[in-house]
Amino acid sequence: MAPQQWESKIHFGPASGDNGPFPHLAEDVRRGLTRIPKELPPKYFYDARGSALFEQICELPEYYLTRTERALLTQIAGEVVASCRPVTLVEFGSGSCRKTRILLDAMARRGLLDCYVPIDLNEDVLRQTAQALSEDYPGLRVQGVIGDFEQPVEILPTGGPRLVTFLGSTIGNLTHDGAIGFLRNVARLLAPEDRFLVGTDLVKDVRVLERAYNDAAGVTAAFNRNILSVINKHLDGRFEPNRFEHLAFYNKEDSRIEMHLVARQSHQVSIDAIDLTVEFARGESIRTEISCKYTSAMVEAMLAEAGLRLLRWDTDKDRLFALSLSTLLH
Ligand SMILES: C[S@@+](CC[C@H](N)C(=O)[O-])C[C@H]1O[C@@H](n2cnc3c(N)ncnc32)[C@H](O)[C@@H]1O
Repeated sequence: MAPQQWESKIHFGPASGDNGPFPHLAEDVRRGLTRIPKELPPKYFYDARGSALFEQICELPEYYLTRTERALLTQIAGEVVASCRPVTLVEFGSGSCRKTRILLDAMARRGLLDCYVPIDLNEDVLRQTAQALSEDYPGLRVQGVIGDFEQPVEILPTGGPRLVTFLGSTIGNLTHDGAIGFLRNVARLLAPEDRFLVGTDLVKDVRVLERAYNDAAGVTAAFNRNILSVINKHLDGRFEPNRFEHLAFYNKEDSRIEMHLVARQSHQVSIDAIDLTVEFARGESIRTEISCKYTSAMVEAMLAEAGLRLLRWDTDKDRLFALSLSTLLH
């Protein structure tokens, strides 16, 4: 990661620079739309509109993930904080930080809370949340890092013990290799007294899974199509998002939900800033997201492969979602 770091209370570092909020968008779009089958990385959903749509998704009745993870965090935050006594909370893909407050409150109640390090691509959301948290938690140092968590993170504050979190089932958006690479980076950053807390969605009834990504109000469909608007905005693309249908289904073999945008008719789309014309056949799809679903054995094995040891596993009574706390293997 070539991150930009800023500290709040409140000092912001350099702005994003010439490449805007998505420095690798051009190469990723060219690579993704010239391969067969076509795909785009899900990180490009999250401009301001995409982030706002994601917040709406989190409150949908079909989207059990957020409320289940929130309830689990509420249940275990006190015990987790009491067991590792963190003074710094580091959060990958922090977004709106709503659930984070449960952990910050637990740290504050024990007089431990010193520093919060949100890491996200979306600078606007980072700045807003840093401002809000600084106001709500007097004395809290907020050190935001604007960067891509799929790149190695080189810098983290040294004040420990640290609790490092990756919530919202975001790890499920990574392929197996991507997830292992990410977890290895986390393991490299951890000191023996630090802990890592990850939220994972679990394998379950296909109907429940598919409903969560095909909500009746169509918010997920709008979120999905927003990736085309991001390309239009930042790369002078000529996508007409409504020429694509939202498709989300469970791929049992790979244990994941896949989200696609399917061309309703054959047509061409030019993306002027990268001098690319993309042909779509009728029914051809762009895969825009995977969301992997795990069992406890799968999570434990992934952590171990990356050099981490599971310390505690918490799930709700319906086994919809899980939080895993881990530490360095050796
Ligand atoms: C699924 S949302 C989860 C947000 C929040 N953690 C939650 O639990 O509600 C994913 C978040 O990660 C951020 N994100 C996605 N890909 C990223 C990447 N490669 N590097 C940094 N942030 C990323 C998005 O901007 C978004 O805020």
